[in-house]
Amino acid sequence: MDIPGSAGQFMTGRAKLSAMTVKTKDEILKMAKVCKLAARCLEHTGKFVRAGITTDELDKIANDWGLSHGAKAAPLGYKGYPKSICTSVNHVICHGVPGSEVLKDGDIVNVDVTLLLDGFHGDTSYTFFVGEVSERAKKVTEIAKRAMEKGIEAITPFGTTGDIGFAINKFTTKSGFFVVEEIGGHGIGRVFHEDPFVPSFGKKGRGDRLLPGGCITVEPMVNETDADMIDHAIPNSSIQWYTTADKTLSAQFEHTVLITEKGPEILTVP
Ligand code: MF3
Ligand code: CO
Ligand code: CO
Repeated sequence: MDIPGSAGQFMTGRAKLSAMTVKTKDEILKMAKVCKLAARCLEHTGKFVRAGITTDELDKIANDWGLSHGAKAAPLGYKGYPKSICTSVNHVICHGVPGSEVLKDGDIVNVDVTLLLDGFHGDTSYTFFVGEVSERAKKVTEIAKRAMEKGIEAITPFGTTGDIGFAINKFTTKSGFFVVEEIGGHGIGRVFHEDPFVPSFGKKGRGDRLLPGGCITVEPMVNETDADMIDHAIPNSSIQWYTTADKTLSAQFEHTVLITEKGPEILTVP
């Protein structure tokens, strides 16, 4: 892996430049470690996605796997969130709370895993198919994945978050789908969600500057229609979960990415 030199090497500890926390080499190694573990946890959990399993069972599988590898599930207890992962089925846009819901043939489910290890967070998600899914389910999922990839490809050292949002929105719209504007990616490190906000829309050159040694997530949510979003409360939590108002499908993928002097480096790879 590439460890950025110039921004990091003049730092002694953490520094806040622009809206982004620049990490030291040691901190970047810790990010790489937790991100790889999160990706492996997601891969492991995904093997159990099938018709008949409940989202609560997926939650336990992910939590147990993390714990057995020395990591904590970051969502559990985060702002009162009651579970270890998020499971967002069909028209659930994000932050779906695992429970007694049984997955059925034809569903799509986003599983979002965030692990905490050695003081650092790794955050990644993937939309899985349950059995055989419809052509439109395949399409919205494919576009969400490619939108995330376009966003990551738009990352350059000293570029901006607007570059990322522009690329995501351009690709998604051109494909006939719609991005969610209200929720997006985020800076990540010792803090689960930190600055900057990483939008799924925007203008090139606008937004926050991307600095080598910084880490962000790229996690566009892609919808079939431009219907409103409905927010739903979670008891005793300040986190909300979101659905499409017209119950059409929404899909999402997420990687945690290190910004290097050469460009983006995806950290959440198994
Ligand atoms: N993992 C989600 C993200 O990508 C955040 C989940 S917060 C929770 O940012 F509390 F809902 F778990
Ligand atoms: Co996530
Ligand atoms: Co995230």
